[in-house]
Amino acid sequence: MSTLSTSLPGGTWTLGDLTVTRFGYGAMQLAGPGVMGPPADHDSAVAVLREVADLGITHIDTAGAYGPRVTNLLIREALHPYAESLHIATKVGATRDEHGGWPPARQPEDLRRAVHENLETLGLDVLDLVNLRLGDAQGPRPGSLAEPFETLVELQRQGLIRHLGVSNATAEQVAEARTIAPIVCVQNMYNLAYRQDDELIDELAEEGIAYVPFFPLGGFSPLQSSALSTVAARLDATPMSVALAWLLQRSPNILLIPGTSSLTHLRENVAGAGLSLSDEELAELDKIGR
Ligand SMILES: NC(=O)c1ccc[n+]([C@@H]2O[C@H](COP(=O)([O-])OP(=O)(O)OC[C@H]3O[C@@H](n4cnc5c(N)ncnc54)[C@H](OP(=O)(O)O)[C@@H]3O)[C@@H](O)[C@H]2O)c1
Repeated sequence: MSTLSTSLPGGTWTLGDLTVTRFGYGAMQLAGPGVMGPPADHDSAVAVLREVADLGITHIDTAGAYGPRVTNLLIREALHPYAESLHIATKVGATRDEHGGWPPARQPEDLRRAVHENLETLGLDVLDLVNLRLGDAQGPRPGSLAEPFETLVELQRQGLIRHLGVSNATAEQVAEARTIAPIVCVQNMYNLAYRQDDELIDELAEEGIAYVPFFPLGGFSPLQSSALSTVAARLDATPMSVALAWLLQRSPNILLIPGTSSLTHLRENVAGAGLSLSDEELAELDKIGR
């Protein structure tokens, strides 16, 4: 197992045998508008990714569907050959249509193609972590994941994938996946204002499985709450900093992958997530999503 010391807020977590900083980076915002096409400013996107690495962040989240292929190619351009400590998580199970939609692509042949495409675009022989993305753009949908998940397990046995996770999943699907093969993480929507997975997070923490909230800052509609703004103003911090610090303090198995296309925001988020929230502030913030 690799060891990693970090001064980043939150310290580190181990995904299977891979140590990552709990403060990670989500690459989706680097693709063009609607997550389709190239970024408005290519050089700035590359600079953000290099700064991610320079700050010591060792967990980057991406997907072949971002762009599509755009964020994977940017990551490769900016950071390949990758430092041994850097771990890239990707997702398969959705594709893009001509309207920018995210239709499911979970047939065995779709998943095999997607894994090979991720290997090629990222310039890797093995993918560190592949999440099976379930549900649709409206959220998780019930139903068995056995067939697509078993396809990924087969690709893992072939040596193409180190670790597996699930995304946009119901608690039942998480449990079903675990009867088929070990998972190291669940990546679902969760933030200060959207707390659907509170119980799941606590259960996963007991099992040593990471929970990776997507839209930690509210995604396409930034978090807005008067209670959040009040606490932030009192601490002389931004609401984004408080939202990230709250997630890190919520549970030790939470890994952050906030997205940004801005160097300034990236640095602000790293600095802000280290904010220490008192029990009173945590109680005040806790009411937002309850
Ligand atoms: N599994 C899934 O289905 C799924 C779905 C969605 C996302 N994801 C993953 O989750 C990651 C995070 O989600 P996300 O990027 O969509 O949403 P997010 O992290 O909640 O928010 C990103 C938005 O916040 C803004 N922002 C970031 N830092 C800021 C700051 N300090 N001040 C003001 N605005 C700030 C960004 O704009 P700027 O660019 O201007 O900073 C961007 O518009 C994605 O990158 C992706 O890897 C997964």
